[in-house]
Amino acid sequence: MIPAAPIPKENQGQPAPRIDGRLKVTGEARYAADMPLSNIAYGVLVTSDIARGRVKAIALEEARRQRGVLDIISYGDMDGVEKPEFGTSAATSLGPLHQKEIVHDGQIVALVVADTFEAASEAADRIKVDYDEQKPTATFGLPGGETVDAAGKSELYKEDLKAGDFDGAFAAAAVKIEAEYATSANTHNPMELFSTTCEWRDGKLTVYEPTQNTFGFRAAIARQLHMDQRDVRVICPYTGGGFGSKGPVTPRSAIVAVAARRVGRPVRCVVSRMQGFTTTTYRAETQHRIRIGATEDGHIAAFGHEGSEVCSRIDDYVVGGAEATARMYNYGSVMTKVRMVKCDRQTPGYMRSPPETPYMFPLESAMDELAVRLKMDPIELRRINDTDKDPVTGRPYSSRGVMRCFDEAAKVFGWSKRNPAPGSHRDGEWLIGWGCAMAVYPTNVGAATARVRLFADGKVEVQSSSHEIGTGIRTVAAQMAAEHLGVPLESVRVEMGDTDLPPAPVSGGSTSTASVCSAVLKACEGIRQRLADAAIGHGPLSGQQPASLRLSGQRLHSSDGASQPVSDVLASMQTGMIEQYAEFVPEGAPPDAASKLYQGKSTLIGGSHGKKLKYAFGAELVEVRIHSRSKEIRIPRMVGAFTAGRIMNTRTARSQLMGGMVWGMASGLLEATVVDPRNARYVNRDLQDYLLPVAADIGDVEVILLPEVDNDVNPAGVKGLGELGNVGTNAAVANAVYHATGRRIRRIPIRIEDMLV
Ligand code: MOS
Repeated sequence: MIPAAPIPKENQGQPAPRIDGRLKVTGEARYAADMPLSNIAYGVLVTSDIARGRVKAIALEEARRQRGVLDIISYGDMDGVEKPEFGTSAATSLGPLHQKEIVHDGQIVALVVADTFEAASEAADRIKVDYDEQKPTATFGLPGGETVDAAGKSELYKEDLKAGDFDGAFAAAAVKIEAEYATSANTHNPMELFSTTCEWRDGKLTVYEPTQNTFGFRAAIARQLHMDQRDVRVICPYTGGGFGSKGPVTPRSAIVAVAARRVGRPVRCVVSRMQGFTTTTYRAETQHRIRIGATEDGHIAAFGHEGSEVCSRIDDYVVGGAEATARMYNYGSVMTKVRMVKCDRQTPGYMRSPPETPYMFPLESAMDELAVRLKMDPIELRRINDTDKDPVTGRPYSSRGVMRCFDEAAKVFGWSKRNPAPGSHRDGEWLIGWGCAMAVYPTNVGAATARVRLFADGKVEVQSSSHEIGTGIRTVAAQMAAEHLGVPLESVRVEMGDTDLPPAPVSGGSTSTASVCSAVLKACEGIRQRLADAAIGHGPLSGQQPASLRLSGQRLHSSDGASQPVSDVLASMQTGMIEQYAEFVPEGAPPDAASKLYQGKSTLIGGSHGKKLKYAFGAELVEVRIHSRSKEIRIPRMVGAFTAGRIMNTRTARSQLMGGMVWGMASGLLEATVVDPRNARYVNRDLQDYLLPVAADIGDVEVILLPEVDNDVNPAGVKGLGELGNVGTNAAVANAVYHATGRRIRRIPIRIEDMLV
């Protein structure tokens, strides 16, 4: 039995159950497409059957004649609408229905609006599109792909890091590892489908859409529609999983907005699972060449990482995870190079740990290969090369618990019983393999705002337009307020996901807990101060130092034991409620970071920027079992240990890390979006053929939360962990497969066919 609510250790908060857990499991939580609106019409997308070419003609007449059809939006209907500005708030620069050129499979060519979803679907099926088709380039290694250097092309990837004399050190190294690795494309399949619902009233637009970035979305859509953003409201109280896909606005949203304006009714468009594969973003496939040169005793003298990523023709999206791998160990010298290969695909986008998941796979696989070559335990190899500073710039890590994580995970896993010889562990017909890898994710924090209200009856309201995407952010924000205002958690109500609330940054980059909790903390501190200032004038706390007064049990306490009920203090202030708005701007952020939030721009800082490197770390140990005859690959258990600063809630933290590890396992064994090389179309666009992990695919997942205090990262001392868990798992799986079989598989996911012959 693994407890769902780990007992808090030092610097860890209580495992409070999610305050919205009941709503979620009973179906009462309202997601964007659940909003009851009267007289609603339904939109269904029509998408292209080709990946490259041009729409010659689109025949809408038969569809228009279908009963219940209200309107069809297609070419010519969106001309007054602005092209999106590709970046963190927009997934692509492709104008919605602006061009008859088709640049990727499943590109939107029309939206049918009807009285019912069924009528719209029926009509959508009757739209005939005639194309001039051209031969597309699907992926790496095919004619027509254009290779370009990535450095400087994207905000995410500024330069190819270098340090020391890599060429010389590699040439001179006693032990060399040189290998190529590849990761597959993956498609976001959050449980909640993508959707947009638009309603116009008096020239103002309300959009209900599951998003990770309400204010960014508002700015982007307002810009596209030439509107003042204050005339647009974006609402999504819950987002049913995002993983990056619901961060930026996609072409669909503006089309639905225009449709709703034309039909004079609210329009809801829920995208089918199949169309979700092409009308949003995805994690692109990557290729890597790793070169490691080491001494006989395992010290790494040279590390080279060259990565290539598939990208669209129209945008420069790059994750460039060599920026992270270049800093992970005490390398004597470093060379990195990242390239994009432009193909006829939609623009890729953020997916959980966008740079680290695909780039740590080759590094952590190569570390295992080096350990095998050196006949050294892979954990010991990591210890020898552990570092407390960045080998590229020499700056120190604010904290780095990697080896503590490995040691604790190894103890729990029973790693000391591992015989390093491949194929040496067996259980009947099952071959057993144990593998390990490092997990890492940069710690970022952004400016955030919050409003907190404290009422005389002890009730508290917290408002911040952050996003409950399954992480438990409402719960941890409530915990922060309850703790600082001295009220029970049940007294706190949290409102999120609405641009009428104070802005919060994009819920991406594992930054929300640190950012939002810091803003809530600041607002609560403002309330405490105002109560304290009032209380010292007269009554039981008169003459006390205001800074020394603390709130607990709905009373204001002094350190010498005097106290006064909060309701009395409020009465003395002749007020029924104290409301405090606060803006948190992290140290090192530009002074206009808070005002930028109102423009929909998040400023996330941390990671490899600044005087110290700020990262959360972990170690993941995996057992695989491979059947000697059927070659079926099973994962009976995984153990992950993590250091992520202050843990706000051990229950929600464990859930995040466990979910991350399960997804990381799926990256190693299951998930792959298959692109047909002949036509650049996705082959497995449904949940039958796109293999997602389910509970039956995994045995025990043990998450160990190690205590860590890091006051450098942010005032809350929190390192984000939403993305940390699924980094490195894929390599740990591949390393375990090697240990079980002696087969080194350098391309993920690893499938049964890799075990044959
Ligand atoms: Mo995450 S991929 O930063 O939403």
